[in-house]
Amino acid sequence: MRFIDIIEKKRDGKKLTQQEIQFWIKGYVDGAIPDYQVSALCMAIYFQGMDNEEIAWLTDAMLHSGDIIDLSDIPGIKADKHSTGGVGDKTSLSLTPMVAACGLKVAKMSGRGLGHTGGTLDKVESIEGFNIALSEEQFKKQVSEIGLALIGQTSEIVPADKKLYGLRDVTGTVQSIPLIASSIMSKKLASGSDTILLDVKFGEGAFMKTPEEAEKLASTMIAIGNHLGKDTKAMISNMNQPLGNAIGNALEVKEAIATLKDEGPADFKELCMSAGAIMLMQGKIAQDEASARAMLQEAITSGNALQKLREMVIAQGGNVNMIDHPEKLPHAANVIEMKAECNGYVKELDALKLGTLAMLIGAGRRVKEDTINFGVGIVLNKKDGDYVEKGDILAYVHTDTPLSDEWIEDFYRCFVYSDTPTQKAPLIYKIVK
Ligand code: URA
Repeated sequence: MRFIDIIEKKRDGKKLTQQEIQFWIKGYVDGAIPDYQVSALCMAIYFQGMDNEEIAWLTDAMLHSGDIIDLSDIPGIKADKHSTGGVGDKTSLSLTPMVAACGLKVAKMSGRGLGHTGGTLDKVESIEGFNIALSEEQFKKQVSEIGLALIGQTSEIVPADKKLYGLRDVTGTVQSIPLIASSIMSKKLASGSDTILLDVKFGEGAFMKTPEEAEKLASTMIAIGNHLGKDTKAMISNMNQPLGNAIGNALEVKEAIATLKDEGPADFKELCMSAGAIMLMQGKIAQDEASARAMLQEAITSGNALQKLREMVIAQGGNVNMIDHPEKLPHAANVIEMKAECNGYVKELDALKLGTLAMLIGAGRRVKEDTINFGVGIVLNKKDGDYVEKGDILAYVHTDTPLSDEWIEDFYRCFVYSDTPTQKAPLIYKIVK
């Protein structure tokens, strides 16, 4: 089999066979097929798509590119969740300790930042010493003992996704339903949990631009999950503006900690409560949404959710002092106040551009080899629906480098105003079962 033939076949809109997909994934992981050829195939898939059978074969080939964790000897239901990616999306950092504090066992496999979106792994690594590369044995021990562990895909677990993810990030091939669905579902299936909640985002700051596309991606992933015996559900949520206020790794960890103290932004807390309620029902910890929400609120009020985050950080070698004193997290040298240049109601906030601007000052990667500057980012002070007067602070920019004129102009273009009051768009559009 020659890889060039596979590229050309997909380029011409033909269906690949299971053997061709297996040849691709095996060859790429072994190093026999180079990045440039895989980039070409990903671009062909981006334009030509794949049918459900090809997506299932691709997921299966990626899943079997490494070890599959077996959690069946840990008693009880083990849960996982995954977001398709957004701006300011620090949900896993607050949500997983919240549900774990309610007694649900969470075995979470996360990803890194992709394109303009941040990744949970980069965020937790802003906590000094936090180890995301647990061995399978350590991962299982931690899920069993404290009910919460967070790892990344490694050279043992879904190595194919580890390589493909980094390549797609820098080759304009992220926004593809077959590639996103197989990337997410191979990780979810490899981490061994029984239930999966997918937060599928749509809007300017998401990879799927419309609720309809997001629903299509959700249904594709639900079909794969359910077919393999996992209780898989999805929520379709709005990413037209950033989630919460903070964009940038350590800044988001701070906001997640504040949320666990019930001092976080309302939209972010609401997303965690909605997602948490579904997870607790999937895990048979709660009978209905009202009792699930009451349990989650109690986990926050009692301090148990924050304590669960502390336990995970300690277990994974992180400096828990940074959780107890978030001002010790990495921070930028300068905080610049960005002041409004006119009056009006914020009608739109360009999440995609804000995510890109945060990336440009170091919060994300431009190329695969870039290292992240954990301390930098943007903290919004005004969001969709807020009234702004000229001179009000729109946002604080945390930066180690001076902001260029172009950056500043782009920042101001992110805010679109209206003279009349505007409605806040609903955060959760739909639950798909
Ligand atoms: N999250 C993932 O894990 N993979 C993708 O392709 C997109 C978002």
